[in-house]
Amino acid sequence: MLPLIVSTMLAYPTNNYPTNNYPTNNTITIAPGVDMPLVGLGLWQYNSSVAEAAVKAALAMDYPLIDHALGYGNADGVARALKATSRPRHSFFLASKIPGGLNQSAAAAALEQVLSELGVGYLDLVSTHFPADWDGKTGASDAARLDEWKAIEAFHKAGKARAIGVSHYCPRHLQGLLDNAEIKPACNQNEYHIGMGSAGVNATDDIAFHRKVGVAYLSFSTLCGPCGDKGHMELITGKMVSDIGKAHGKSGAQVSLRWAVQQGIPVVPKSSNPKHLAENKDLFGWSLTEEEMATLTAATTPAVSGSGDGKTSGDCKVP
Ligand SMILES: *[C@@H]1O[C@H](CO)[C@@H](O)[C@H](O)[C@H]1NC(C)=O
Ligand SMILES: *[C@@H]1O[C@H](CO)[C@@H](O)[C@H](O)[C@H]1NC(C)=O
Ligand SMILES: *[C@@H]1O[C@H](CO)[C@@H](O)[C@H](O)[C@H]1NC(C)=O
Repeated sequence: MLPLIVSTMLAYPTNNYPTNNYPTNNTITIAPGVDMPLVGLGLWQYNSSVAEAAVKAALAMDYPLIDHALGYGNADGVARALKATSRPRHSFFLASKIPGGLNQSAAAAALEQVLSELGVGYLDLVSTHFPADWDGKTGASDAARLDEWKAIEAFHKAGKARAIGVSHYCPRHLQGLLDNAEIKPACNQNEYHIGMGSAGVNATDDIAFHRKVGVAYLSFSTLCGPCGDKGHMELITGKMVSDIGKAHGKSGAQVSLRWAVQQGIPVVPKSSNPKHLAENKDLFGWSLTEEEMATLTAATTPAVSGSGDGKTSGDCKVP
């Protein structure tokens, strides 16, 4: 066996993990040896029984990625679906999150809790959910974020997560972690959808910054789930996305998802409806023209939810 080449920032014990066998086309590399599928199933706001049905249906349809979080409170349903499937663990990418704002020992316990609640031996990706506790105050400092991160690094080194990342971090939070982390975060998952534009230094959608520092950018709420009924439907049945979809024989929702995927940004739309699950995954083998991409990127609605200013998610208000 070749000796493991250890770089200072990225000491990945990749030899501890089974070789994944999901298709590596339609993926992006988020860490050495770790390819993340560009589309998966999200589970936010699903109770355990809906989560169970959605994961069962998605796995039966060969979904390559399931995106869970401890904070969703539906791990028992996800675990039942994972137990019931005939698909081996290494045939899909399993991501989860622990709450933000935890100190090192609380984070270590939360990480073990994810494995035991899901009933799995390892995760493909585990992230901290927020740059602080949900109150935006507890653990809201670079030092506290680093303390939680140390537990996540240890979990990775112990062979329990192939890649480790963050979520809801604005560029300032991410830079603070990059300055001090031993293992670089592989990715940052943020609200990202058509209509957000960019609000500058306090926006979480500063993708150029992520590219510069080499941290993969992932999208949640690509269909604007939390944007209210109007905003949400605008990216599913709205005129702009529907008209573009017609030219490709695709739905408006598929256009909204393809817009992110075509930028190399993974998406995790949620559905427990088999028709929508199939549609949400059908994002490859066709593409939007450059002109269509530019039109979608220039859209200024629906606005990002969160801060109430219509421009930012509010996450950068966390100190
Ligand atoms: C879970 O959510 C579904 C859909 O909202 C609902 O029909 C069902 O009653 C809920 N189950 C429980 C146990 O709350
Ligand atoms: C870590 O957080 C837990 C839960 O809030 C607390 O009980 C524990 O005392 C903290 N440990 C340290 C070292 O601060
Ligand atoms: C960005 O957010 C910080 C912290 O809330 C604030 O001090 C700063 O003025 C904001 N900058 C801009 C350009 O809005």
